[in-house]
Order: sequence, then C-alpha cells, then structure tokens
Amino acid sequence: MSSLQEEIGRRRTFAIISHPDAGKTTLTEKFLLYGGAINTAGSVKGKATAKTAVSDWMEIEKQRGISVTSSVLQFEYGGYCINILDTPGHQDFSEDTYRTLTAADCAVMVIDGARGVQAQTKKLFKVCAMSHIPIFTFINKMDRDALDTFELLDDIENNLGIDTCPINWPIGSGKDFKGIFDRKSRQIIQYSDTQKGTREGHEIATDIDDKDAVIAHIGDDACDKLTEEIDLLDGASAEFDLERVRKGQLTPVFFGSALQNFGVEIFLRAFIGMATPPTPRVADIGPIDPVEHGFSAFIFKIQANMNKAHRDRIAFMRICSGKYEAGMEVKHVQSGRVQRLSQPQQLMAQQRKILDEAYAGDVIGVFDPGLYRIGDTLCLKNDNLRYAGIPTFAPEHFARVRQIDTMKRDQFVKGIRQIAQEGAIQVFQEYNTGMEEIIAGVVGVLQFDVLKFRLKSEYNVEIRLEELPYEYIRWIENPAEVDVQHLVGTTDMKLVKDMHDNPLLLFVNEWSPQMVLDRNKGLALAEFSR
Ligand code: G4P
Repeated sequence: MSSLQEEIGRRRTFAIISHPDAGKTTLTEKFLLYGGAINTAGSVKGKATAKTAVSDWMEIEKQRGISVTSSVLQFEYGGYCINILDTPGHQDFSEDTYRTLTAADCAVMVIDGARGVQAQTKKLFKVCAMSHIPIFTFINKMDRDALDTFELLDDIENNLGIDTCPINWPIGSGKDFKGIFDRKSRQIIQYSDTQKGTREGHEIATDIDDKDAVIAHIGDDACDKLTEEIDLLDGASAEFDLERVRKGQLTPVFFGSALQNFGVEIFLRAFIGMATPPTPRVADIGPIDPVEHGFSAFIFKIQANMNKAHRDRIAFMRICSGKYEAGMEVKHVQSGRVQRLSQPQQLMAQQRKILDEAYAGDVIGVFDPGLYRIGDTLCLKNDNLRYAGIPTFAPEHFARVRQIDTMKRDQFVKGIRQIAQEGAIQVFQEYNTGMEEIIAGVVGVLQFDVLKFRLKSEYNVEIRLEELPYEYIRWIENPAEVDVQHLVGTTDMKLVKDMHDNPLLLFVNEWSPQMVLDRNKGLALAEFSR
C-alpha cells in the first residue's frame, strides 16, 4: 500500500494546448501508447476514427463526428500517474477548453513546425499564463518542411512573451530531416520513420564529438549546419532554469514528429521529470496543501445529457487535496449541503469506469443532482473553504435569440437560464426588452447549434438565431460613476446588461473600446466580469 503522499507526489496533471490540426490527437495517442493504455495507434477518437467510435455522448457529437466534451485520460508511465485533461480540439469549442486549463498543473503546447504560433494557441496560452503554470513546447511535424528553427523560437517569444530554452534541436526538416540533437547529452538521435505506430522506438544515438560517425549518419552539409546552429544557440538562448520553467517564465522546447513517433518518448520522459506534482491551491482560507489537507475539489465543467436515456448531468471536479474514497460524503460549500458523491467515474478513452479511489491531481466526474455550478467547492463535512471561482471567458460570437412559439415563454426562460447557469452560453439583454428576446454570447459558434438543439430536445422550445457582428465585449467596471445610458459611443457599439444586471458594451471593431474610453473620461472597462 502506497501512502497518500506517494500517490499524490507521483501525479502529473496536464492539458494539451494547440491550434486545430497541429497534432494534439496524434501526440496524445502516442503518449497513451507509451503508457500502455492502448495497444495500437488509432484508438483515440480522432477525425478518422470518429465514424466508428462507440459513444453515448451528446447526439450532436455523433452527428458532427467531433468531440464536444472534454474527457480525462489517465495512464501510468515510469512510476508516474499521468492525467491528460483532453480538451475539445475543434476550433469552436474553446470555452470548455479554457475552463479545463484551470484544472491543469501544467500544459503541453503543440506547435506545427511549418506554421508556428497560431491564433488558438495564442488564446489558450494566455489562459495558462494567467495561472503561471509550466508550459512545455513540442514542435511537431518535423518530417514535413518546417520554418527555420531560430524563427520558430523567436515566434514563440515574441507572440507569447515567454522565454524559450531548446532541450533538443532539429537536424533539418521534411525530406532532409535527420533527427534531433540532445543538448545535454550532446547526442544525435537519428530519425527513422519505421517507428510509426509501435511502442519501441529504436533510436540510434551518436556522440556529436565523434565527427566521423556524425558525418556518416547525417552527411557533411547537415553536420556543418548543425555545428553552426549549436554555436549560435549556445551564445543566444536562455539558460535552462527549472525554477523559471515551474513559474511559467521559460518554456523548454522539444522537436519531433508525432505521426512518425519520433521524439515523443524523449519529450514525455523529459517533461514529466520537469513538471510539478499537485501544488497547494489558494482558497479563501489560504493555500491548501494537497497532502496535509483532507479531501477538497472544485468543479470546472458540467456536462449535460451525456447519456440521453438517463438525462444525466456529470460534474467534473479537480481534486485539489486529499483522497476520494467510494461512497464518501462531502460538503457542497456553496449550498452547505452534504452529498454522497455518486457514480464517480473517470473517462478512459471512450469508456467510463467507476472509481474506488482518487487523489489530489485527479479529475473525476460525478452525477450532478442539479446542485452544482462551475467553480463550486466540495470539501469534507467538517471543513469549510472555497476556491476562487473560474473566470468567465469573454464570448467572441453573439446572436439574437428569439423563440418561435411565444406561448412557451416559461420553458424558454427556464431553458435559457439553466443552460446559461451550466456555463454553456452567456446571456445578455438589451435595456428595454424583456426575456422573450435575448442576446446569447459564446466562445465558439458551434455552441449556438448546441443551444438550439438542447432547447428543442430538453425544453421543447424552438428558437430562431440571428447572428450579430459583435466580437469584443467590455464590462463597465464603474457603473455608479458614469452615466451608463448616455455614454459617447462608437457607431459599432451596443449597450446591454448581463444576467446579474451588470452593464456592458459590445463592439464590432477591436479598436473601438479604446475610442470609447478616450471619449468618456472616468469610464473603466474590463474584459472579464467580476
Ligand atoms: P489536432 O488533434 O491537433 O487537430 O491534430 P491531429 O492529431 O488530428 O492531426 C492533424 C493532421 O496532422 C492529421 O492528418 C495527422 O495525421 C497529421 N499529423 C499529426 N502529426 C503529424 C506529424 O508529426 N507529421 C505529419 N506529417 N503529419 C502529422 P489528417 O490527414 O488531417 O488526418 P488523418 O486522416 O491522418 O487522421
């Protein structure tokens, strides 16, 4: 029997952030392969396997063949227990992705070597940077022509504002890809594309100082270029500093090809060693030690109707301290009610399995009797603490929502309220209208389809959606100090209020918020509601 301390100490909980198509699914699959959690490549639900995957998750997920929900994958590797908080890969499902990031202790950032930092990577990175978690970079698709390596590093530093420290260095790319140079051991690990889909990679290592062997393996030209680049790099790049990595100030960078299964295990082994186990999280009573303190957790995601037959809702919680044991009773702090956590489950690829125990660092999904809200805290019965709530992420798409049959007003209002409370949409109202017409805001446009689908299937209400051109949102931070209804605005500005009657402004153009600030002395605007 291992102790609580050992169990928690060997946990590594991370999220993978990337722009769609950078290779997140392929890399996840290779991690699982190394962890022995799957036996063959192609088992993780991806675009190609979606058609055949058995899933009782939301109907819309099946219809569209994309993953609407975040699942949690757990596997063992080298004595570590690794949780991957898998996040919706589709561009349109970023809000859950954002929330999931708040449950991770570190992040893996996958970048396509031919494209560099892309829009979604940037957005997700910003959320990780807010919580100062360590971020490990994997530059993928080196078997395809990639950008110049120094350019790639500059791109990360300039676009994301984080220092980079290459742990290894690619030797060419595309058809000239010869492998990677490991800076610490000064070994060249030769690329071969025969490892695809297998667990055992027989990487051949050559000492860089053995010039003849190096030339024999990678050729004269590649050897000269590599020597030159290493000299440049040693003079220019940031020193490796584990403390700075753990504070999220420096990202270790690795290169490889997820598809060809090259550089993946090297990356996995290295970043697990650098990543932090669950560390104390701050609650209202101070930092909560993951080992010393009894069970506590916060809810970061609620998934409705995963199984339509049971109309169930699953609340996903991140355990922050202590241990969960089957059947235990815990206090839901926000309501003060004691709950038996029923049907706790973990999601392993597409299967749900019922759990007997789980530790700080793990994520479990429990049956939600309709009580939980995103950001809520659970703790032991005789304990009392609250974790800070999860921030509301600014929606980027807006639509006017009208009910078609106005006789069903009550169902409409109830449905909209419930779906908004789950955090699937944000709801706004114009100043002079009632609830029969609202504006919905979402991070990804597909959430509009989810809204339409759920209102019809769960509340029997049909709606018409009219997309609006707004993209930027700012809450008025000091409504008592300004004349909210008479601000000097821009032509693309719209004044609305949220569900808590907080006034806010919507804009079409990125530069308009600043113009409004310039025109209204004393006005304070914020990207998030408080
Ligand atoms: P995502 O989850 O980040 O969206 O990316 P995913 O892993 O689905 O990969 C996107 C595409 O890029 C896939 O091709 C995948 O095979 C390919 N890919 C991933 N890693 C590498 C790599 O290291 N090298 C190369 N050359 N390709 C890579 P697809 O044709 O869009 O899909 P599929 O039919 O192969 O699944």
